[in-house]
Amino acid sequence: DWNMPDYITEAVEKIRAQVGNDEVILGLSGGVDSSVAAALIHRAIGDQLTCVFVDHGLLRLNEGKMVMDMFAKNLGVKVIRVDATDQFMGQLAGVTDPEQKRKIIGREFVEVFNAESAKLVNAKWLAQGTIYPDVIESAGKGKKGQTIKSHHNVGGLPETMKLQLLEPLRELFKDEVRKLGVALGLPHDMVYRHPFPGPGLGVRILGEVKKEYADLLRQADAIFIEELRNTPYEATVVPGFDQDAVPQNWYEATSQAFAVFLPVKSVGVMGDGRTYDYVVALRAVQTQDFMTAHWAHLPHALLGKVSNRIINEVRGLNRVVYDISGKPPATIEWE
Ligand code: XMP
Repeated sequence: DWNMPDYITEAVEKIRAQVGNDEVILGLSGGVDSSVAAALIHRAIGDQLTCVFVDHGLLRLNEGKMVMDMFAKNLGVKVIRVDATDQFMGQLAGVTDPEQKRKIIGREFVEVFNAESAKLVNAKWLAQGTIYPDVIESAGKGKKGQTIKSHHNVGGLPETMKLQLLEPLRELFKDEVRKLGVALGLPHDMVYRHPFPGPGLGVRILGEVKKEYADLLRQADAIFIEELRNTPYEATVVPGFDQDAVPQNWYEATSQAFAVFLPVKSVGVMGDGRTYDYVVALRAVQTQDFMTAHWAHLPHALLGKVSNRIINEVRGLNRVVYDISGKPPATIEWE
């Protein structure tokens, strides 16, 4: 177990020794690993670091603004934000197959990132938030989809750039990365967020991805997450058990929770009128390793409140269902 302040001092010295006066590029995804890597490298070399944040239009509500506020505004990190929504939506138009969607999102990501990186002509290093489990995993079989790490393979960049890899989190496990993030001043809620897949909402909109669907889903998802965070979790406190490990609310009591957009219309009533609108499914699971998972037994009052809020607040949605499938046989994501 690392002592964080000592670890930071040591890591900072190592990064400085490694890169000297060179410029470094990092692909910021908004996820925990790339964020902590960015904060650490920025601590070490300041303005020699430039982050590229590709917004594919499949991020959660306000996520882009959050990333920019956290890094550019609060930490003073140089971040280039690329809004590539139209490019991604264009490439995804008419595509319904989940693996095909993943491939397109991965491919476009590499393209946008590389195009942006190629403008930073002096860069000598490509930084990545690779953590120890990734190192082990890539030695074995690959993941189902591409993560931001596999997106940024150096091979895809122009030959002339010849970037070297900088991976300062390679020796750390996830819980250590989180502690490091907090020690570097990143907000606790950000560092302890549920995992979010690289293809983002692209695999939470069933079938063809459209901006209209993504906008509806973002709103429903944000309401669900807000209510999970605001609903206390009544834990049975075992004497002698680590108090910090006891979940305080239903967000902390679940491993992953999100809304899924179903491109199906059903009939509803509103006032004197009839509605004919889309459905969202809520998914919340508890798991240790994400290989098997139980659906979370969320309180009915919480589910009821989320359903009412979504239907009342999001025009275009008139029905909410709760997914009670375990993994296996279902997967956590719907695609
Ligand atoms: P499934 O749906 O296979 O998900 O039960 C297991 C875990 O993996 C995440 N997941 C992905 N992560 N790119 C990612 O970076 C992907 O294409 C992808 N697909 C699934 C999922 O969110 C869950 O945590």
